[in-house]
Amino acid sequence: MTSRKSVFIRPLFRSIVAISALGLAIPAIAQSFHNAPASSSTLENPDTGKQNAAAGQKLYQERCASCHGATAKGTGNIPSLASGATQAAKPGEIFWFITHGDMANGMPAWETLPAQQRWQIVTYLKYLNSPGAAQLSTAATGASATTATLQAPPPTPPFTDFRYEKPGTVRKITVPDLPAPFATQSAGNGPTIVPRPEGVWPQAPKGFKVELYTTGLDNPRLIRTAPNGDFFVAETSKGQIMVFRGITADGKPKTTSIFASGLNKPFGIAFYPPGPNPKWLYIGNTNAVVRFPYKNGDLTATGPAQHLDDLPSGRGHSTRDIRFSPDGKTMFVSVGSGSNVNDPDTHPEEKNRADILAFNPDGSHMRIYAYGIRNPVGLAINPQTGELWCSVNERDALGDNLVPDYITHVQKGGFYGWPWWYIGGHQDPRLDGKHPELKDKAIVPDVLLQPHNASLEMTFYEGKQFPREYDGDIFAAEHGSWNKGTRAGYEVIRVPLHQTGHATGEYEDFLTGFVLPDGNAWGRPVGVTVAPDGSLLVTDDGSNSIWRVTYTGK
Ligand code: HEC
Repeated sequence: MTSRKSVFIRPLFRSIVAISALGLAIPAIAQSFHNAPASSSTLENPDTGKQNAAAGQKLYQERCASCHGATAKGTGNIPSLASGATQAAKPGEIFWFITHGDMANGMPAWETLPAQQRWQIVTYLKYLNSPGAAQLSTAATGASATTATLQAPPPTPPFTDFRYEKPGTVRKITVPDLPAPFATQSAGNGPTIVPRPEGVWPQAPKGFKVELYTTGLDNPRLIRTAPNGDFFVAETSKGQIMVFRGITADGKPKTTSIFASGLNKPFGIAFYPPGPNPKWLYIGNTNAVVRFPYKNGDLTATGPAQHLDDLPSGRGHSTRDIRFSPDGKTMFVSVGSGSNVNDPDTHPEEKNRADILAFNPDGSHMRIYAYGIRNPVGLAINPQTGELWCSVNERDALGDNLVPDYITHVQKGGFYGWPWWYIGGHQDPRLDGKHPELKDKAIVPDVLLQPHNASLEMTFYEGKQFPREYDGDIFAAEHGSWNKGTRAGYEVIRVPLHQTGHATGEYEDFLTGFVLPDGNAWGRPVGVTVAPDGSLLVTDDGSNSIWRVTYTGK
């Protein structure tokens, strides 16, 4: 009983602190109006007058009222537009700010609204305190918010949700940004997958084009490019490995083949030995590593699966990715936990789980390479440093903004916290007082991602098609949240390494648009791989498709 009570008191206290902190911060930074360039202050509003104000009010009700309130007086920690800085600002500065927004602080950019409409909104805002305003509001009471748009409070930056995901937006979550556990209630908000509406398409940054490579698959998950350029895809629930070969002039596979079937939830795919002439194709079943004889060009397995070693399995996380060290001497296998936060001390079934395991390539000599990694899914070798990297799903039920998922290079013998600690020395309140000696051992990962966004496959970009600044960067698929009030993830991200081989903590939205404005998702990215021509292929087990992203420069 008592512990329940404290859960309810704490969030209230926290939100009061958060609001007052924001209130203090705003006047301190307000030099020009949101850093609007000086040139914007002299812009003339071409659409003034009462009629434009009425049109602006209607647009305001549709686009802005959900955050700034029906009378523009602000809601929660969102500023009033009827008084304060906006009323003091020049029309041109407001126009500039509406156009650019401030994504990091929860203010969307409205550059897709026609300029005339943006000016009409400015006219309305400036009309608010004029004598004609009362008359205006009676005239436009018929305006209402569109029912097809999800109404939810804006996220607290640097945390975000699908509404603000936009290709090219750079994000960075740092340790001081983490809220206290239970700052918000734990959400149950899994997606209902809807068919992709006509005309809806994934969105990539300017200069990139997105095409549908193939669709009609059955639960396509991990995708990996073979040394000869074929694409191997795990259809996990069907127990099958597919092969796609080539790209026709209209962007479709030239050949499609079933490589093997009858597997137990296959996910990981690896070619061995590393290099141009593999002899084996390794598959990570949920309960074992198996391998098939393989040579370049094989479209179906030429022999039965050879069983190498059992993997811990059963309840909980089922994906097992496989990668080899560049020298071919070590096989890495990612094995997620069996639970959200069960203590391995009292749950023997967690033994050798929430780990990255290492083996000899023949499956012998199993050892723990790194531990305390709740659900490591995607593995990759950094081509510049030779290090192992992984993409991780952290724990749930501590609130919307805990615990960040992450992408990190993996230190040999490294401890990443689960289940007693998270993101360095933060104790999981559900295991209070346990393992104090591990507090300082818990490593802070390189790149903190949105909590709950379910980071799956990752790959390093070694293609030659994308602009130079993408060389060596990471692409990762974020399958999307369920344990968050408003969805996050459902996108492919880029982690820029700036040609250093090391992460700065930043990541960037790259491929978005899989969630509709009403909050329903139609697609969920799982796998990413780079094609021989340098394009990026993305599997999506929501629409059962593979997307292809190419750079055209247009
Ligand atoms: C999803 C919520 C949301 C929506 C929708 C939204 N805003 Fe905002 N807006 C914000 C937030 C949050 C801020 C504060 C940003 C900051 O502090 O930098 C803001 C700030 C502003 C400001 C600056 C206010 C100030 O005092 O500094 C203006 C002007 C503004 N919004 C106009 C608009 C207009 C016009 C629309 C509709 C076209 C709109 N906003 C829609 C969330 C929203």
